[in-house]
Amino acid sequence: MKILGIETSCDETAVAVVDGDDRILSNVVHSQVAIHREYGGVVPELASRHHLQKIGAILDQALAEAGATLEEIDGVAVTSGPGLVGCLLVGLSYGKALAWVRGLPFVGVNHLEGHMRAAFLEAPVELPAIFLVVSGGHTSLYEMTGEREYERLARTRDDAAGEAYDKVAKLLGLSYPGGPAIDRLAAGRTPVPRFGVPKMSDGSLDFSFSGIKTAVLYHVRDQKVAPHHGPEDETPETIRDLVASFQEAVVDTLIDRTLRAVDERGARTIAVVGGVACNRRLRERMLAVGVERGVPIVFPRPALCADNAAMIAAVGRLRLARGERDPLTLNADPGWQI
Ligand code: KG4
Ligand code: ZN
Repeated sequence: MKILGIETSCDETAVAVVDGDDRILSNVVHSQVAIHREYGGVVPELASRHHLQKIGAILDQALAEAGATLEEIDGVAVTSGPGLVGCLLVGLSYGKALAWVRGLPFVGVNHLEGHMRAAFLEAPVELPAIFLVVSGGHTSLYEMTGEREYERLARTRDDAAGEAYDKVAKLLGLSYPGGPAIDRLAAGRTPVPRFGVPKMSDGSLDFSFSGIKTAVLYHVRDQKVAPHHGPEDETPETIRDLVASFQEAVVDTLIDRTLRAVDERGARTIAVVGGVACNRRLRERMLAVGVERGVPIVFPRPALCADNAAMIAAVGRLRLARGERDPLTLNADPGWQI
């Protein structure tokens, strides 16, 4: 069995092929970072146009790398939400057309379920598990009790963690996207604790990152920290220290909520997925907590944390194997919550 996955929900044009045992036969990702860099963020209209220009070539490459032809594909899975509507529509229309022309079964996949499924592509995940989904658009906790059974335990009340990284980096003149830049600049430093872990007054597990982001803004203003627009290796110590403190507060917050969820639900495993799961400090601290608590922690490899289509194909594989199908009238759902 070979399932084709397509992902175009934001600024990555991605196509992958997985087999019936979840082996990744190919996983091609074309990043648009270079296009959006000059605007300091994703420009939706440019992103959807670029998906349209690239998707055919990325499909050809994914098939070639998988050593497969379109005739050998058994099903098509496409991200149908959440995401930028114009971007979603490109992948969805393309996937539906392929399915129609070749008479293949088709399913629309939730992008967040895809991120969670990426953990299973990395390692076995013993259930019940707590999933921390942490990306540029989302920061949520889910309890997974069955193959496709999830309960959302927390969400962010304002910014997503990746969004906070990107905004703080922009404020300090650092390169886009901000998350990886801050990760590099903070590497190996002992962070000075400057920003606390926000608590929800109602005691909920929800996240909030706008307070930390605003605290950085006030610090920059009060201490007259000048943004650094020059080469990254010339970044001043003051900025390196500041981003290390910011990152520590974000990581503290993510760990605090995750552990509370694990305790509340008696979870057997923790999985951390989404673009921010690439972060080295988060990986190091979370893995240390796992050892301390005796809870296995699954972090997909970076290529499966960031947006990719293998995770979408893997959800598709599950659904198609259960005989589930979506009609070719399926529409994009930019706000699809699970
Ligand atoms: O999952 P993803 O590729 O796209 C979304 O679905 O949002 O996540 C992108 C986000 C961006 O905000 C980016 O700055 C952040 O993930 N990110 C990181 C790192 N790598 C990517 N944040 C912190 N540290 C990193 N190493
Ligand atoms: Zn994502």
